[in-house]
Amino acid sequence: MKNVSLFLNQSEFGKPENSGNVLAEADAKKILDQWVINEKLKVHMKQVAHLMKAFAESRNLGDPVAHKWYLAGLLHDADWDQWPDQHCRKIIGELEARNIDPEIIRAIASHGPRYFGVEPESEMDKMLYAFDELSGFVHAYSLMRPEGYLGMEVKGVKKRLKDKTFAAQVSREDIQDASDRAGISVEDLIQFVISNQPEADLR
Ligand SMILES: [Fe+2]
Ligand SMILES: [Fe+2]
Repeated sequence: MKNVSLFLNQSEFGKPENSGNVLAEADAKKILDQWVINEKLKVHMKQVAHLMKAFAESRNLGDPVAHKWYLAGLLHDADWDQWPDQHCRKIIGELEARNIDPEIIRAIASHGPRYFGVEPESEMDKMLYAFDELSGFVHAYSLMRPEGYLGMEVKGVKKRLKDKTFAAQVSREDIQDASDRAGISVEDLIQFVISNQPEADLR
């Protein structure tokens, strides 16, 4: 895995004529069940999917759009478990072969601009990037708290962000960068995660 460039060197994702083509929730979950062995990674994707859907709903973007946001979250790391050196090229190829809506594919392709070389442009792109690291970070914090998410506060999460030894693999730089790009403060993003993540359906 080390030293393998994940740069996609791709700027077009999917085809415009496939706009509106989506996977049903059950079919998307089938991909997770077939591709992902690591249960923790599945939990991560379901949590990000939930946050994406909840955010689209909070902006009144409508059910079809919220479903697209949900799918981008649910599938963004689908290939990470078994094909880390093809992340996220493999899931992009799969969705392109299934003629899925290009906006979903593009959001997945831009969820790590430093790694994939694709800049988040749309609001969906930017929010997937923003929720990705923060979701896992807040979840890690919930696991070390005896009360889990109950009574969790933004300032507690911020304190952990300053402690570089806590969840050290989570890039603080990326969290700030994603917040800047989304135009939403890190505090507001954390609050959104705290308020919504506990309700994620992890089945
Ligand atoms: Fe990823
Ligand atoms: Fe992720």
